Amino acid sequence: MACVLAIESSCDETAASIVLDGHLVLSDPVATQIDIHKKYGGVVPELASRNHVVDIIPVVEEALEKAALTWADLDAIAVTRGPGLVGALLVGLQVAKSLAYAHNLPLIPVHHLAGHLHAVFLHNPGEMRPKGPKYPHIALAVSGGHTALYEVHSPSHVIQRSNTRDDAAGEAFDKVSRMLGLGYPGGPIIERLARQGDPKAYRFSVPIFKDGALDFSFSGLKTAVLTAIKKYGQSDEIPRGQDQFDLLASFQAAAVKQLVHRTVKMARSAQVSDVVLSGGVACNGALRQTMSSALSEYDIDMHAPPPRWCTDNAAMIAGAANHDAKRRTGKGHHADDRRLNAIGAWRLDQ
Ligand code: KG4
Ligand code: ZN
Repeated sequence: MACVLAIESSCDETAASIVLDGHLVLSDPVATQIDIHKKYGGVVPELASRNHVVDIIPVVEEALEKAALTWADLDAIAVTRGPGLVGALLVGLQVAKSLAYAHNLPLIPVHHLAGHLHAVFLHNPGEMRPKGPKYPHIALAVSGGHTALYEVHSPSHVIQRSNTRDDAAGEAFDKVSRMLGLGYPGGPIIERLARQGDPKAYRFSVPIFKDGALDFSFSGLKTAVLTAIKKYGQSDEIPRGQDQFDLLASFQAAAVKQLVHRTVKMARSAQVSDVVLSGGVACNGALRQTMSSALSEYDIDMHAPPPRWCTDNAAMIAGAANHDAKRRTGKGHHADDRRLNAIGAWRLDQ
């Protein structure tokens, strides 16, 4: 059984967590920078790095305190190596490296998306351990930076089957929110307002690729929303009240339809009985509901982490590191750990 402390700093959340045996989350503090980036309508990379530097040590201390553990109780330190904003990643990486060196602990690099895919296995003390998906399964990773489908044969054998050809789904939510001056991050705001709207008010189509690929594309949808805003009312007027709710509900329905269509098709062609939904956009109630009922028509089970582990967190990183941590338990810090670098753009299957 390995006790792993992980650090995550790939975007705008500074997070640390202690996880036992890859699934039991003993502590999981997250310092979010949402309030800092809000006024810019998106994450400003340099501000993200600067704020990670401020928050990271207090967050690590909080993780140890909340778990009521000391450094001597840990078997390894895990850290997100990429993909993500390089300056942001380097802060977490350097702190993790220094702590591992100082405490003679192995340092385990983790792929951010391997973390998202693992989040479905996590639980807190006193909560039932989730049943988890069977292998192989299909996983949809859908966040502000990624929209991709994976065939997962084991935690260490994952094949990427499709990707977005332009924007990520979360990015489309964030951009549509910005077009209407609604704030950042757009996903939760749009979900809330869309509840009052008619998803059939606007006809936004789902793109189909001639080559049959199950890739995603959200830039056409984003442009269609912009066109609807421009056509609306007089001069610079933007949709408000019920008109805005209808536009948002129609946008969200089209985004969800595309995500569900690709995922169901992929799951059926791979003949799996389980599908995992992960990443920030997996918080979306309409997506969870539509996906789970579409999959149930084919007797496929959907597994999604609770919203707190859909968005960026370090528990998913500690959990995903468990396999490597067990292999290295008791072996201490290694010379190679000291030279570890971040990788900004990194496919999960490479
Ligand atoms: O996984 P995450 O925290 O960070 C990345 O790795 O990107 O995902 C953040 C993204 C943002 O684009 C945000 O708008 C979106 O997830 N998001 C949502 C919801 N909650 C967060 N999108 C749709 N509906 C939501 N409820
Ligand atoms: Zn993420």
